[in-house]
Amino acid sequence: MSSQVLQKLSSKSDAAALRSDTQIIRRFFEHIDNKTTDRGETVWTEPVANYQSPDRLADELALIRRRFVMFCPSLALAKTGDYIARTAAGTPLIAVRAEDGSAKVFRNACRHRGVKLADGQGCKRALVCPYHGWTYGLDGQLKNIPHQDGFPGFDPEANGLVAVPSQEIGGLIYVGQEATGDAASELDVIPALIPDDHALISIEELEIEANWKLLLESSLEGYHIRALHSRTFYPRQYDNLTIVEEFADNNRIAFPYQTIESLRKKPEQDWSTNGRLTYVYHLFPNVVVSTFPDCMQVVVLEPLSPNRTRQHTYLLGRGKLDEAGEPDALRQSILDGQEFSKTGAIEDRDAVIAGQQGLNSGANTHLTFGLFESAIGRLHACLRREIG
Ligand code: FES
Ligand SMILES: [Fe+2]
Repeated sequence: MSSQVLQKLSSKSDAAALRSDTQIIRRFFEHIDNKTTDRGETVWTEPVANYQSPDRLADELALIRRRFVMFCPSLALAKTGDYIARTAAGTPLIAVRAEDGSAKVFRNACRHRGVKLADGQGCKRALVCPYHGWTYGLDGQLKNIPHQDGFPGFDPEANGLVAVPSQEIGGLIYVGQEATGDAASELDVIPALIPDDHALISIEELEIEANWKLLLESSLEGYHIRALHSRTFYPRQYDNLTIVEEFADNNRIAFPYQTIESLRKKPEQDWSTNGRLTYVYHLFPNVVVSTFPDCMQVVVLEPLSPNRTRQHTYLLGRGKLDEAGEPDALRQSILDGQEFSKTGAIEDRDAVIAGQQGLNSGANTHLTFGLFESAIGRLHACLRREIG
C-alpha cells in the first residue's frame, strides 16, 4: 500500500460520510452498465506469519481490549434482567439490562473467589454466584453474603461487581475493556445500524478451526461469488460487483442482488435497498453487521488461538415479536429465510478452513489481496498501524 494511503489511514478525522441508499443504487446501475466495480488503489500483501504467530495474536487481543468493540445488540437485552455472558478478547464479561433501563457490563467474576456468575444468555432478577450464593443486584452492587459474620471487616459496598466501560449507541452495546482517553469517540462515525422495528431472533455460537482474520476476510469482498457460491449466491447476485466505502477504521461493502434491476422502472423516491442488496459493515477490528431481506446479522469474531475462532452470531428480524402475536411464526419465517444464506455461509466457512490449512503448506510467505479486495487491505493496514 502506498505511503499516501497509509498516511490517510493514520488520520481518523478523514472519515467520509457513507453514501445514501439512492446514491448506492445509482452507482450500482453505473457499474452494471459499464461492467465495472469499485477498485482499490493498490495490491496488499500480508505475511502468512501474521496469521500464525501467538505473539501477533496477543497484540491483536490487546488491541481489541483497547478499543470500544461491539459486545451484543441492545435487542439481546430487551427487558430488565436480560443478560449475555461470554468472553471478549479472552475476558469473561457479562452485560445486563439494569432496573434503570441502562445496559451495564461487568467482569464476570464473583468478588468472593472469582467464580463466573452466569454463562450464555438468560434473564435474572439478581446475579447469584453459584458457588456460595453471594448475590449482586442488576446494578452490580453486592446485596447479600450468606453468613456474613464469617467476613469481619469485609465491606460489601466496596465489593460490587467490577464494571467495564460501555456505551449503548444505535442499537449496539460496545465495551472498552481497557479503553483510555477519547476511545469512545471512535464510535461517533458509526451510523445507527439497527432499525427500531427489529427483534432478536436467535443467538448462535460456533467454533471454527481458522484464524479470525481469515473468517473476517471472507465477508469483505465479492470477488469469490461465482467460483465459491456458484449454486447459492451467484444465481441471485453478481460476481465481483461491490461498492466499498470507508468510515474511520471501518468499512462498508455493498453487494447487490439481481432484483435491483426492478428499481430502474421506479422513481427514485420509491427505491429501497431491502431485498435488493446486502450491506456488510465491518466495525474494526472484529465485528461484522450485515443486512439481509427483513433481517440482520451481528457477528463478533472472538479469537481463541491463531488457528481457532469462536463466532457469535446475533440474528435480528423485522417485526415486533410481541405485536405479531405469534412470536414463533415470525421467528420461524425469518429462520426459514436464513436457510438459504446458511448454505452460502457454509461454503464460505469451508473455504476459510481450507485457507487455514493452506497456510501450513509452506507455499506462501504472503497472501495477496487484489484491487477488488481493498477492504481487506485496509483491515490489515489499520492493524499494522495499531500494532506495528
Ligand atoms: S465464589 Fe462466589 S460466592 Fe463464593
Ligand atoms: Fe462468500
